[in-house]
Amino acid sequence: MDHFEYRDGQLYAEQAALTDIAEQVGTPCYVYSRATLERHFNAYEQALENHPHLICYAVKANSNLAVLNVLARLGAGFDIVSIGELERVMAAGGDPSRVVFSGVAKQEHEMARALELGIKCFNVESRPELERLNAVAERLGVVAPVSLRVNPDVDAGTHPYISTGLKDNKFGIPVDDAFEVYQQAAALPHLKISGLDCHIGSQLTEVAPFLDALERLLLLLDRLRDRGIEIEHLDLGGGLGVPYRDETPPAPFVYASKLLERLAQWPGGDKLTLLFEPGRSIAANAGVMLTRVEFLKPGETKNFAIVDAAMNDLIRPALYQAWQAIIRVDTQASREPAVYDVVGPVCETGDFLGKDRELAIAPGDLLAVRSAGAYGFVMASNYNSRPRPAEVMVDGERFQVVRHREQISDLWAGETLLGEPQ
Ligand code: LLP
Repeated sequence: MDHFEYRDGQLYAEQAALTDIAEQVGTPCYVYSRATLERHFNAYEQALENHPHLICYAVKANSNLAVLNVLARLGAGFDIVSIGELERVMAAGGDPSRVVFSGVAKQEHEMARALELGIKCFNVESRPELERLNAVAERLGVVAPVSLRVNPDVDAGTHPYISTGLKDNKFGIPVDDAFEVYQQAAALPHLKISGLDCHIGSQLTEVAPFLDALERLLLLLDRLRDRGIEIEHLDLGGGLGVPYRDETPPAPFVYASKLLERLAQWPGGDKLTLLFEPGRSIAANAGVMLTRVEFLKPGETKNFAIVDAAMNDLIRPALYQAWQAIIRVDTQASREPAVYDVVGPVCETGDFLGKDRELAIAPGDLLAVRSAGAYGFVMASNYNSRPRPAEVMVDGERFQVVRHREQISDLWAGETLLGEPQ
């Protein structure tokens, strides 16, 4: 459920009309709904209220400071993958003791900063990374809390680019090696084993792969326990899907209940703190991207609706053939419907936001690309020297620009002409 709805033929975000936002801020722009972000985060909180837990929002999905701040105010933890994300969390008022650090190649300076801030846990993905972390912690005279990210080799049944828990993926430590690597970690003096972690992929629409992964992790936990290695928390990563079109992913409540049911059968399962790292399921349907129709270009085999947003603003359709709904914002004026490929101004055939969409539109009309709150702006680029769009947060009837549209001069900020002093 989200807070984007039509009223009298006009699309609103909460109590704010999207046409007003587009007029004041210009297009393309991203618009987020605070109430929707809160609702999605709270759905996880409520699903887990009777079990020790921490919801660590995956910052990569949408790292705008205002988004992070909305979640920080609710007591969220954060899953980060770089020093940049860590500093964003800090700038947004996040609590470092609720941060987990994922990623396959954390640099020494990133580890050092995270240790200095006292993060909750490092999700370590290889033996050399363990050794690096131990050395950095030793240099700083501290002990680093670690989880091993285990690759459980389950098929998440999702797009190959966003499936991460298979043997062939670069992520994690193979589940069969993990027992040994835990013993190595236990022997390193500047590490403290605190958890076990996995993340099997993104946009999962079934609970079964998560349960398969849990099963494999519990087997490993049994073996570790026999060796006297106790784990305080189990981090099951992110990955819960969202409805983009006609997918019916389980709600957080259903997802969490099934996992808790299984965990309850495992001795001591009630004391194991559960961590989740949801990104998409919190942010995707809390945002839209607004774009205006520039031209309609009828063709022999295709009609094109050329809009002012492009693949550089929202790359998911081009990169993953992702389908995101494209709808008219103001439906009051009557228009002839036709089938269009909705394309942008970038000089690439792959520059499309949607294909074969039936739309009743005219030049100048405003469109909303839905489900754009996750992996939208964060994946935007300046390709074709296009300034990145503005971002807006709606809160009730008010809205605020939470990132200004880039200026043309921003495009070359940091660049120099040849021969100029550095
Ligand atoms: N934790 C880890 C370690 C991850 O790698 C990811 C996502 C998440 C959590 C959050 O997963 P989520 O709940 O959002 O599914 N750009 C792609 C998605 C890439 C996901 C990468 N990892 C897309 O637009 O579909």
